[in-house]
Amino acid sequence: MNKWSRIKFTPNLPLGANGERVTGSKAHIELSKEAAKEGMVLLKNENNVLPLSAGSKVALFGKGTFDYVKGGGGSGDVTVAYTRNLYEGLSLQKDKISIFEELCDYYRKDIEEQYKNGNVPGMTIEPDVPNELLQKAKAYTDTAIITICRYSGEGWDRKSVIDPNNKALWDYERKMTEKSAEIFKDGDFCLSVKEKEMVDAVKTNFKNVIVILNVGGMVDTSWFAYDPKIQSALLALQGGMEGGLAAAELLVGDGNPSGKTVDTFARTLDDYPSTHNFHESRDYVDYTDDIYVGYRYFETIPGAAEKVVYPFGYGLSYTTFDVETVSAGILQPSHTANSQSAPHDAVSHTDTLYVRVRVTNTGKRAGKEVVQVYAAKPQGKLGKPAKELVAFEKTRELFSGESQIVTLTWNINDMASYDDLGKIQKSAYVLEAGSYDIYVGTSVRDVQKADYSYILDEDIITEQLSAKLVPTSLAKRMLSDGSFEELPQSEPVDTDASVVGNIDPSLTEGVAPGQRAIPYFRFADGMVKNGKYDIMDVVEGQISLDEFISELSVDDLIHLLGGQPNIGAANTFGIGNMPEYGIPSVMTADGPAGVRINPEVGVCTTAFPCSTLLACTWNPDIVEAVGHAGGKELKENNLGLWLTPAINIHRSPLCGRNFEYYSEDPFVTGKLAGAMVRGIQSNNVGATLKHFALNNKETNRKNSDSRVSERAAREIYLKAFEMIIKAENPWAVMSSYNIINGYRASENKDLLTGILRDEWGYTGMVTTDWWTCGEHYKETKAGNDLKMGNGYPKRVKEAYEKGAISRDEIETCVKRILNFILKLD
Ligand code: BGC
Repeated sequence: MNKWSRIKFTPNLPLGANGERVTGSKAHIELSKEAAKEGMVLLKNENNVLPLSAGSKVALFGKGTFDYVKGGGGSGDVTVAYTRNLYEGLSLQKDKISIFEELCDYYRKDIEEQYKNGNVPGMTIEPDVPNELLQKAKAYTDTAIITICRYSGEGWDRKSVIDPNNKALWDYERKMTEKSAEIFKDGDFCLSVKEKEMVDAVKTNFKNVIVILNVGGMVDTSWFAYDPKIQSALLALQGGMEGGLAAAELLVGDGNPSGKTVDTFARTLDDYPSTHNFHESRDYVDYTDDIYVGYRYFETIPGAAEKVVYPFGYGLSYTTFDVETVSAGILQPSHTANSQSAPHDAVSHTDTLYVRVRVTNTGKRAGKEVVQVYAAKPQGKLGKPAKELVAFEKTRELFSGESQIVTLTWNINDMASYDDLGKIQKSAYVLEAGSYDIYVGTSVRDVQKADYSYILDEDIITEQLSAKLVPTSLAKRMLSDGSFEELPQSEPVDTDASVVGNIDPSLTEGVAPGQRAIPYFRFADGMVKNGKYDIMDVVEGQISLDEFISELSVDDLIHLLGGQPNIGAANTFGIGNMPEYGIPSVMTADGPAGVRINPEVGVCTTAFPCSTLLACTWNPDIVEAVGHAGGKELKENNLGLWLTPAINIHRSPLCGRNFEYYSEDPFVTGKLAGAMVRGIQSNNVGATLKHFALNNKETNRKNSDSRVSERAAREIYLKAFEMIIKAENPWAVMSSYNIINGYRASENKDLLTGILRDEWGYTGMVTTDWWTCGEHYKETKAGNDLKMGNGYPKRVKEAYEKGAISRDEIETCVKRILNFILKLD
């Protein structure tokens, strides 16, 4: 195939073996189910109620049995041929179990009715359990399965404030905000009153009670964790199109749960330090919890540990494991360091630490275990979380009695902390003197101290940087003893200053890129009207990209800075589109749970599990396989850039898009989303790391200022981006909607040029999120190459004519956009 044939002509050319389509194929759907099974987390299993023994009879309670939520809403939704709910999944196990059908008929009808009335999965009301059915079910069996589901999506939070002044809110988002407030008066973290009634009825009537949580993230688990009347619970998350079948297979013991939590499940919403000021203002969020996010808070801050129901990294299995540290130390000594004395040389300090661990399956069933290594760093002057994850590895499937030795390694620099105030050395990553203790285990709580500590008797500067993203109006931040320190204040920023005036956001929201007219040319001379050069001269190496760009007029250059009309199956617009120079129009598509093609196109793709579930696999191989499969579907549909993975940190359970993101922990996020990028790009199509950065709240997401310290930004919110940029080189990065310390992320030069490019060495393309409130020329100047869904050529030209932006600045962005297009087949 010639270069760009797919992109230019959108042919119907399948990519599967024997000419079959891979999009929504059996093999991909099977992979989706396997990934779902690999990430579901067994939270509780008293008396080995699970797996259900052969011949078991079950009664299925809760509308969630039918009201299956495959993933979240908004741009993260996927058009699928079908979704399998828990009832359908369990019905396929009828050789092993039987189901009390009359109760199912009741829930099925109720949900059909609620859907007919316009409700979407998960945004429905729990019906009453008729006493007659309850009694019949009780007569049929002593085992009940309760399913609870949750749905959330883009543009609204899991407890939202209805904001009539938000001009950027779409109708769907407004409707969901209102619906959520109606169903879940206190937010959807807790059971609704109706759900609670149903649970109480089941608990008092059945001997064995199993709970399935079909949710996108952190929810209340205290109602079953401490209740002896509920024996088992499976965190099934939002498992994609086969999620119901995946859960059902695990329930009957076809497979063994091996997922581990990637977030801390606390008793109440108020136990999370981010809750109290989440909705303090529509205009800002103060990240006063600083680096104490998730387990970094719960394991460190005095009094917080007892608020945890299920800790980070936790998950049971149908078997048991013995985890024993065989040895630990320095793998490749760069000095004469040992565990007693260590070097103080900052420059060449490259020690790699290791632990070698033997994992033995001591139970009766085959299963996998996840070995986790945490570092406990000296508190020093900076203060540190009590433990931080530095390495993990999942074993292969181990048969009963079988052992595997895994070796986990990490670099000592990975344990450095960022000193933003100059307590040791300003704007530097520092390893403070003291003992770096190593803990090995199977959750942040279930760990044992290794017989080795890395000891430094002087501070070491591992990287000298310069101050970036400095807060202007964050008054204070949390320290490791739970107290707060005051932060220096500086002049507030004029976020919307612009030489071309401001546009009313209601005029920019949801605008499709215009069609650009080009004068006719003699088609008979070829497919393109050659300027002096066309882009194929660059492809063929006759001229450099710089030479090609230097021939383009300012108008041509500016044209390339904006989104282009949809062609083919695309619904999120394109990039390029200058046929007179042979530049094709490369189409984009959403993710992360699958390639999103609008329903009216008639192409169904594979819906994979939500990203949080993928993270719970702790298995980069399976996530890479999902990335590869998704990337292939993208390519088969002649699309070039997948708008995934999304890797914002789960700062608060309230964030409506947590299901699209991986974890509260940047390390797990960086490793697993990195695998996703690797998988996608193995097809030679682009992955997009989004949303860069600090988009941790959906309410008023386009105008909310994330006020954060430089240290928390670098150690928590940017860290996964840094890891993936350095290790996987994603072809694109999407800047986020929100403001960071006064500057819009898309206009933020510190972020997009200073940190991303100058510090991390990124050479790829940066796109805005769709229809930001940023000013186009300011975005270009900051190093945000592309404005999506559409650009504002007239405004950029005006700024150019006023001298506010130079041709050089525009060319720099155009070069990165063309470099992206040139990479595609
Ligand atoms: C979302 C992005 C998405 C884009 C295109 C935005 O509203 O925030 O994640 O990729 O739309 O659909």
